[in-house]
Amino acid sequence: MSSEVTANGDPVTIQCKDSALPDAWPDRPIATFRRILSTLLFGGGAVELPAQLPGRDALPDYLLREFHRVPNGYYSRLLVRGYERGFERAMLGSMDRNRDWLARAVQGRQAVLDIGCGSGKVIGAVAQTGVRDLWGLDASPYQLCIAAADFPEVSFVQGLAENMPFEDARFDAVTACFLFHELPAEMQDAVLLEVRRVLKPGGLLAISEPSPMQLSTANPFTLFRLAGLRGWYFALLARFVTEPYVEQWHARDLRAWAECQGFTVQQDAQGIPFRQLILQLRRGRT
Ligand SMILES: C[S@@+](CC[C@H](N)C(=O)[O-])C[C@H]1O[C@@H](n2cnc3c(N)ncnc32)[C@H](O)[C@@H]1O
Repeated sequence: MSSEVTANGDPVTIQCKDSALPDAWPDRPIATFRRILSTLLFGGGAVELPAQLPGRDALPDYLLREFHRVPNGYYSRLLVRGYERGFERAMLGSMDRNRDWLARAVQGRQAVLDIGCGSGKVIGAVAQTGVRDLWGLDASPYQLCIAAADFPEVSFVQGLAENMPFEDARFDAVTACFLFHELPAEMQDAVLLEVRRVLKPGGLLAISEPSPMQLSTANPFTLFRLAGLRGWYFALLARFVTEPYVEQWHARDLRAWAECQGFTVQQDAQGIPFRQLILQLRRGRT
């Protein structure tokens, strides 16, 4: 995890070129082909981290789960790139539109941070709108090295969204795409508090997460009326993928939660497959 800071108080960014990341078990595919197949078909268990992984000891247990049936979760050199492509396809191409929405939500702000940035596509979309002070933060160095290769104009930092290595009021806006539903409830709270700390008063938090509608709408006719065949598809997908904490996210009254932590809800749109919110940090809070 990045704990060193530069002269201006920002954390040191991840350096991927010089030190290749260590192999995790799925990076030795011949020996582990059966294990990979079994995880894809039946889901898996805990993540195993290589001993030399940067930041290994700071990674909390709740993160070390296999999300979405990806063998070893977000921790494999080989699989993260494949996961990224598979995710785009599994979402039927809707992620580009979603990223554009996030980028437009923070357009015109000076300093923008994407938390749980994964392979960097959201902050890459923000860069397209002309923002120049661009940051991405993620727990997985495997994800960050893909991001750093694809978006050299962005500063990427290994860190935890619930304990960020940034100074208070550093950012004008924060984006979070498909992060909160992967956190246990107490971490969702901790991340919102941390975002409040690193945002300037009046700053924005733009969130996009899976909509609760694909899990909560049991009636197939209603699903079809709402979103046609895509409604059925996303309802099936939501039941198939491993999402250990998604119920804890959907159980929240998000508007009350945000208001209670000092944010005003500017926008809250729900459909299939996304729920998208824009929250503004009220001025005058400490
Ligand atoms: C579903 S992926 C979303 C990636 C990216 N935002 C996107 O939309 O493509 C969730 C990402 O959040 C990261 N993550 C999960 N918990 C985190 C935490 N507490 N702090 C930082 N990153 C975290 C994971 O490593 C993973 O890259």
